[in-house]
Amino acid sequence: MRKIIIAGNWKLNKTIKEAVELVNGLKQDLAQTKEVDIVVCPVYPALSEVSKLTAGSNIGLGAQDLYWEDAGAFTGEVSAPLLKDAGCQYVIIGHSERRQFFGETDATVNKKIGAALKHGLTPIVCVGEVLAERESNKTFDVIKTQVTGAFSGYSAEDMKKIIIAYEPVWAIGTGKTASPEQAQEVHKFIRDLLVKMYDVGTAQTVRIQYGGSVKSDNARELMSQPDIDGALVGGASLKRDQFVALVQNANVKK
Ligand code: 13P
Repeated sequence: MRKIIIAGNWKLNKTIKEAVELVNGLKQDLAQTKEVDIVVCPVYPALSEVSKLTAGSNIGLGAQDLYWEDAGAFTGEVSAPLLKDAGCQYVIIGHSERRQFFGETDATVNKKIGAALKHGLTPIVCVGEVLAERESNKTFDVIKTQVTGAFSGYSAEDMKKIIIAYEPVWAIGTGKTASPEQAQEVHKFIRDLLVKMYDVGTAQTVRIQYGGSVKSDNARELMSQPDIDGALVGGASLKRDQFVALVQNANVKK
């Protein structure tokens, strides 16, 4: 059975002080939550401070990106060893905002996965189609290209350490969630693809999160779908009461 994992992607929001406040609140309210894995992904400068609070708690820490080299003349970049040093266990890779605004490609996603795995970070690898692709019936083609490109060259053992996040771009920050059936259809497609690329056991192990306007009031229905194993949450992860309610509602028995 796959354990539900809810990750808050805070994007470019919150000062260090605000991040500390939010995590302190989450720790209080979610201390008893054992059935759901919880992760927060603050901005880089807040990681180290937040890790002092998440250490030893039931809240995991993730970064929002990384560079594939460990060190060197790469101004502005952050590497896997540094994320480990700051206390991270997870790292988001290939978010659609990075693809859209910062030139991320399936090839760079592929390299970043290697760096994360090499240093013991769990990659949360994002895939998803834009509206025009969905409307022209290209969703499955796009997802297939992204998934095969991202994981090309990685073994089944590697794949078992990876989390996938399906985030339809048209549902991000728009309040327009994919219906549970629409999301389930793509999640199943991804899992079937993993069967072809690897094997049934590997495909059944990998957790696939849904992302795109997940809120406390739609979390239960989404998480109840057989192939949806969690959520990557933007807006609703920034407010203590909303994120707490979302995590609680995500605790579904399957
Ligand atoms: P929203 O939850 O704000 O739609 O953002 C989703 C997202 O991009 C998470 O990575």
